[in-house]
Amino acid sequence: MRQPADVAQSANEMLRRRENQHTLGFARKRGIALVRGRGARVYDADGGEYIDCTAGHGVAGPGHPPPEGVARIAEQAATLMTCQDAMPNNVRAEFVERLVDFLPDGLDRVFLCNSGTEAVEAALKLARLSTQRSGIVAATRAFHGRTFGALSATWREEFKRGVGPLVPGFEHVAFGNLEALAELLCEDHAALILEVVQGEGGVHVIDGDYLRAAQQLCLERGVLLILDEVQTGFCRTGARFACQRYGVTPDLLCMGKGIASGVPMGAVAAGPRVEAPPPGSHGSTFGGNPLACAAGLATLEVMERQKLDERVRELGGWWITRLSAIEHRAISEVRGAGLMVAVELRTRVAPIIDALAERGVLALSAGPRVLRFLPPLVIGRADLEAVATHLEQVLAELGGGGRS
Ligand SMILES: Cc1ncc(COP(=O)(O)O)c(C=O)c1O
Repeated sequence: MRQPADVAQSANEMLRRRENQHTLGFARKRGIALVRGRGARVYDADGGEYIDCTAGHGVAGPGHPPPEGVARIAEQAATLMTCQDAMPNNVRAEFVERLVDFLPDGLDRVFLCNSGTEAVEAALKLARLSTQRSGIVAATRAFHGRTFGALSATWREEFKRGVGPLVPGFEHVAFGNLEALAELLCEDHAALILEVVQGEGGVHVIDGDYLRAAQQLCLERGVLLILDEVQTGFCRTGARFACQRYGVTPDLLCMGKGIASGVPMGAVAAGPRVEAPPPGSHGSTFGGNPLACAAGLATLEVMERQKLDERVRELGGWWITRLSAIEHRAISEVRGAGLMVAVELRTRVAPIIDALAERGVLALSAGPRVLRFLPPLVIGRADLEAVATHLEQVLAELGGGGRS
């Protein structure tokens, strides 16, 4: 599938060098420069074609680019691209109405921003403002973003190294351990923040009983429940939002990634326990700009019309079974929900990701030994079957087949 190019003349390599020369290097760049996409396929600068199991880190739900979205975004770009928060706007008004309809019942006020991290920051501030308390409890292995508030809630030490001091008032409790939570949570805490499926932390699905009991503890102790659905929202797990799989509606729901199919956008939605914030206590120049709102509207339309939640539920069920059927002792576990699925390995994941790319499959890691698949939600079963076959072949080349 992939067209190998002579490295010296490779357009991929040239683009990598140009970007490396003039960017700060936070991201280690791979040797594949993506220049075009269609549906669940992406194409590199040398003409190589890939089945995309990254969706730009879980963003391109309706595919690359969402066909209906393009016209709408282009039309909005030609009409009005920016409009400050203090001025109402027709597209924004329509988007917030449609978004509230799409959300779990009871979440009927939203704040629009530009990324998942910003949604988390806004939720943390809203929780402190609303409760007049400062403590925040997050989970071990959590990932909530990289700005100071969100980073303070994030677990992995390597993301925090050298940039402290972080924001005071944050504590971590073992993910899924109800006893530990019951012991910790108290009247000092403004919020408990959780992911329903921990994404960057290795694709760990929350236990439904734990989530419901944690919500009950929050209610009893006057603590707000923030669910970070930046990665799991917008049909990724086979429900519009992963919390709906467990019948739990949080006080604050954080959104990002799939909300606008690739145009930068984030949002936080609030329920009735969240007090209205004082005017001016938070804001964003670009948040809720008409261009992003047009992309958000197009995204919601595709999700509703194509019933992507149902599609992902069905396809995701088959996909996890298909991956679980691969017999190789390098695999220790297959887990996930919908089209957010991971294969935990007994070996380093980086060479597997490279070998898959050589075969025309783009995949992600979620830690050093976890292979993660986050394809566009419109991917076909045949493409996923091809991915599974390539993985089998890559593992076979490693040697040592058979279950352990
Ligand atoms: C659960 C979760 N929260 C927050 C973020 C941060 O989102 P962004 O990178 O859009 O700022 C991410 C990103 O991966 C995430 O997975």
